[in-house]
Amino acid sequence: MFDYSSFFKNKIEDLFKESRYRHFAHLERLQEEPPFAWIYKHPALPDLTPRKVSVWCSNDYLGLTQHPEMIQAHSNAAENFGVGSGGTRNIAGSACLHENLEKRLAQLHGKEQALLFSSGYVANETTLQTLGEKIPNVIFLSDEKIHASMIHGIRNSRAEKMIFKHNDMTDLEQKLSSLDFDRPKIIVVVSIYSMDGNQAKLESICDLAEKYNALIFLDEVHAVGIYGKGGAGIANQLELQDRIHIIQGNFAKGFGSFGGYISANSEIIDFIRSYGSGFIFTTSLPPSVVSSSIKALDILNESSALQDSFHKRVNYLKSKLAESNILNYRSTDSHIIPIHIGDSLLCSKISQDLLMDYSIYAQPINYPTVPQGLERLRVTVTPNHTFELIDYFVQSLEKVWIKNNFKNRKVA
Ligand SMILES: Cc1ncc(COP(=O)(O)O)c(C=O)c1O
Repeated sequence: MFDYSSFFKNKIEDLFKESRYRHFAHLERLQEEPPFAWIYKHPALPDLTPRKVSVWCSNDYLGLTQHPEMIQAHSNAAENFGVGSGGTRNIAGSACLHENLEKRLAQLHGKEQALLFSSGYVANETTLQTLGEKIPNVIFLSDEKIHASMIHGIRNSRAEKMIFKHNDMTDLEQKLSSLDFDRPKIIVVVSIYSMDGNQAKLESICDLAEKYNALIFLDEVHAVGIYGKGGAGIANQLELQDRIHIIQGNFAKGFGSFGGYISANSEIIDFIRSYGSGFIFTTSLPPSVVSSSIKALDILNESSALQDSFHKRVNYLKSKLAESNILNYRSTDSHIIPIHIGDSLLCSKISQDLLMDYSIYAQPINYPTVPQGLERLRVTVTPNHTFELIDYFVQSLEKVWIKNNFKNRKVA
């Protein structure tokens, strides 16, 4: 007889043995005092007393989740329309707000149409799965560092795939050239890789796609809101929007709200709208969420002040890290700042020391989010991080580095 209970317990024990059991801090962000939050409890730190901490690992890049106009838009929509949408888009859940937001997204990315999903994860998984299932004999060519949601979409579609080495255009071209020119192909990439903070070589990818007759699917989740005109992302900043067939994004990071989307030409959007199970069979986004997403687009369309302030702080933090005693900082071509540690126990310890000794919250990033041996802190700032706070962060990190005898250790 199968012992369910032992099975689950053993699987969890495996995670403890490999030091990759996930502990969640009990954290409440303070709307009136960003970037601070209260930490009440941390399961890995029984001695932690409740305290106010500064947050250094949020994806709310522009601090828009706590922006007064966003909150107002959210609560106005709840008052006018209620808190839920009432159903799937097909049955009772398609509202003018959904259509307005889709129109705005199509404009933002210079595409004919857009389509909303419950999250960025669902947008990726559903779109890739549907393309892979329905296009006869299609093959995916994906970068080895794409997000889990893309991997699952490709895998679930059961279509054939080739994985090219990260950002290696020679490898991509070799793979493309080994395939029949007439065979349908989809290149799957991310504009800013979320853990390393580096950018895709988008121009070369567009050249190769045109040369070998392939479509491009681009995830812009970590770029929308903060790069490009009005937050349209890296493809827009590089003026490559027209050469990329499907641009995917979300609202939960730079735009400070919630939900995911794709933008593309009308045929592709109508195709995914009509065949994508993860779009059709799930309740649509609530009006308050859609309304705050529209407000985020308005705020970023009116002024680049938040983006400018954000990038200033990113550059300041990078310059301070470069000057510091921290050996394992390497500059990236984005706002994502990885500080490599290369050992899961030490990575957790450094994060815990920052929290206990300096009230700094920077969650460790361990396997399987990154490969074993490449454990790190992944640091982000927002326009709400003052320059003094950034100085304090770098000084605290240096002290923790020295305390852990990490000063002269080289990592991969
Ligand atoms: C590259 C990338 N794509 C997609 C997603 C999923 O987006 P969401 O959080 O809206 O589901 C994430 C989430 O972290 C991501 O990093």
